[in-house]
Amino acid sequence: MTNPSLLILPGDGIGPEVMAEVRRIIDWFGSRRGLVFDVSEDLVGGCAYDKHGTPLHDDTMARAQAADAVLLGAVGGPQYDDLDFSVKPERGLLRLRKEMDLFSNLRPAQCFDALADFSSLKKDVVAGLDIMIVRELTSGVYFGEPRGIFEEGNERVGINTQRYTESEIARVAKSAFDLAMKRDKKLCSMEKANVMESGILWREVVTEVSKEYPEVELSHMYADAGAMQLTRWPKQFDVIVTDNLFGDLLSDLAAMLTGSLGMLPSASLGAPMANGRPKALYEPVHGSAPDIAGQGKANPIACILSFAMALRYSFDQGDEATRLESAVERVLADGLRTADLMGPEGGAPVSTSGMGDAILAALDASL
Ligand code: IPM
Ligand code: MG
Repeated sequence: MTNPSLLILPGDGIGPEVMAEVRRIIDWFGSRRGLVFDVSEDLVGGCAYDKHGTPLHDDTMARAQAADAVLLGAVGGPQYDDLDFSVKPERGLLRLRKEMDLFSNLRPAQCFDALADFSSLKKDVVAGLDIMIVRELTSGVYFGEPRGIFEEGNERVGINTQRYTESEIARVAKSAFDLAMKRDKKLCSMEKANVMESGILWREVVTEVSKEYPEVELSHMYADAGAMQLTRWPKQFDVIVTDNLFGDLLSDLAAMLTGSLGMLPSASLGAPMANGRPKALYEPVHGSAPDIAGQGKANPIACILSFAMALRYSFDQGDEATRLESAVERVLADGLRTADLMGPEGGAPVSTSGMGDAILAALDASL
């Protein structure tokens, strides 16, 4: 039997340095748990533009389509701000999502006990928080036509289109209901049916899909009220399903509840491939953090936890995923902190590789 394949796209900014720690973790699972992956690496984002004049080369796209899972670091940086829109680093990521048809984006927001003090909200509001945002990722206003900047009379007009078909709503709704079944069986759908026809359709289709999941308690909320409720009492939620743009906003909001963006992983899943595994791309929720890139300050945990999600969702290794997540929890409980997790009182942060060392040691100790 051949080993499962992993395509690694470190990208820009802190991407390569956090991914270097993930590679050590992958090697650990190979040597200590017999989980050997065929790992290859390629370029995405600004670094791909520098080399090929495009943020995602066609060959890289083809390799991503063929891989059992893709692991991405981060894309973007200020040196690319003035590039034409069509070749901006983010376009590489959006092309991957679109062409791999990764319609279901899982963004957990989990508050680690050791970091509950870190949230800008009161500790009792966030301690023990564990919610999952399912964001539709391949449609909506991110991709709808018409789009562009056009001349209209004597001025220009910028146009983007919010567009959802019933089948696009139904498939992401199903993936959210499936997840809810494995969790607390509670799903909240967020849209703006009060002002948007696409929201009315969203609500109708989600309600229709819910008939296949009688055990799941479904509720609906306008997305603005949802944002308010997320900051008021986030623990009322289990799984949230929402569209591409609202999901972008709400997942950043939810991420910050937990104290640090540097902690949160994500999985973007598509339809099953011939081998039964879903098309999948895993990436940290944080960006490329150009201000601290190359200094060994970045927190590798979000990227490491993204690999844990790959173990769980692509490779059916839920126990090993839990092993890795527990190792991270252990290290945090022991008080280890990268710079992003230092409170105003300061202290001595560990470096990116120092955090990697500690997580590897905790993995060793788990055996
Ligand atoms: C995200 C990011 C991306 C998005 C950007 C980098 C294109 O904000 O993954 O949430 O808007 O989807
Ligand atoms: Mg975002």
